[in-house]
Amino acid sequence: MSAQPKDVARRAVLAGALATGAAAALTGASTARATTPSGDAPRGFHGVHQAGVLTPKRRVAAFVSFDVTAGDRAGLTDLFGTLTDRVRALTTGGVPEPLGISAPPADSGVLGPVPPGGLLTALVAVGASLFDERFGLAARRPVRLSTMPAFPDDDLDPSVCHGDLLLQLEADDTDVIASALRDIARHTRGAMQVRWRVDGFASPPRPVGTPRNLMGFRDGTANPDTGDTRLMDQLLWVDAGQGEPAWATNGSYLAVRLIRMLVEFWDRVGITEQERMFGRRKDSGAPLDGQAETDTPDFGADPTGDVIPMDSHIRLANPRTAQTAAQRLLRRGFNYDRGTDANGNLDMGLVFCAFQQDLERQFAAVQRRLAGEPLVDYIRPFGGGYFFVLPGVRDANDRYARDLLA
Ligand code: HEM
Repeated sequence: MSAQPKDVARRAVLAGALATGAAAALTGASTARATTPSGDAPRGFHGVHQAGVLTPKRRVAAFVSFDVTAGDRAGLTDLFGTLTDRVRALTTGGVPEPLGISAPPADSGVLGPVPPGGLLTALVAVGASLFDERFGLAARRPVRLSTMPAFPDDDLDPSVCHGDLLLQLEADDTDVIASALRDIARHTRGAMQVRWRVDGFASPPRPVGTPRNLMGFRDGTANPDTGDTRLMDQLLWVDAGQGEPAWATNGSYLAVRLIRMLVEFWDRVGITEQERMFGRRKDSGAPLDGQAETDTPDFGADPTGDVIPMDSHIRLANPRTAQTAAQRLLRRGFNYDRGTDANGNLDMGLVFCAFQQDLERQFAAVQRRLAGEPLVDYIRPFGGGYFFVLPGVRDANDRYARDLLA
């Protein structure tokens, strides 16, 4: 059925109003809180830190980078307000308030008439470009936020790099992500526009232990213990003592790297060579000098790399010395499978994600040490960016970036 002229006109007004970010009344209507029986957002959305860093990975994820198109600081403030309301509502679930008889349904309906709560985990981060001249935020830039450089083995495609704002959405089913993205797109139209997007998935344990990446190796084994609050304070979270602006406290830095795996070549490499490239066994995930996945490699007992090669991935990434202890980071990546490229080659790999307190001290230091490792012949980093993970939204009165924009 074609839309009535009145509806078309209304929609045009709505689009225009959102584009200028000036329609307080409309924004109010469009960001109406979804309600649950208790009327509250469940634990999971509100907190000192955002979810999606220390929380367990869900089965599927979308990384969506946006250019902010809001014209000024007021428009940007509206955008973060809308984003807060939408993510709060989408993570909480419940029936969206109707928009009126002549308006379209308030929700896509993809998750049914009463979208359940708890299905979505969302994280909002910002890129260095948000702190350019557009919004007058230059003096408030997190001091360690820069534009991701190209590293020696990179082959970066600018169309899938960087961005003003990054959404990391996670769920256990793909329709939850699709419906969340549609809702966010609808409510933020005119204020931000997708720059690039990549979808990922986490494998279940095969058959047990840490899930495997698409090279068949367990990936995530040697991560720092996320249950160790003190360690997380040392490696992950930003606080006032680090020379950062006060608003950034309880945020973190995220390096996203889109890394294609040349799986057709990889599948022709013998098992011994594969294992020597990583320094771990493919079946168990154990270091080459150990028996079990959780065994700690003893590089001191193997100073010339007879057992675990000096240029193996784990040895370069984490030499396990006192000097490199502060370079540890939290890897929380997802596999991706984007079908085939124009030549019919399989296009799959890793959405590498690393959280940390300092991109230079941690990600960049590790990445530079990995330059030229044997694995580089089988991987192709082609995109991603550096982002600052905003502090958490503490309660019903708080919103993303409140202190940044205050
Ligand atoms: C497609 C690219 C990559 C693949 C397939 C890959 C795979 C792996 C595997 C299988 C392990 C051993 C198991 C584990 O501890 O998780 C590992 C460890 C690790 N990787 Fe990667 N990785 C990739 C890229 C990177 C990048 C870009 C970095 C950082 C710059 C990185 C940093 C690390 C670190 C720090 C460890 C832990 C080392 C340890 O503490 O023993 N990896 N990676």
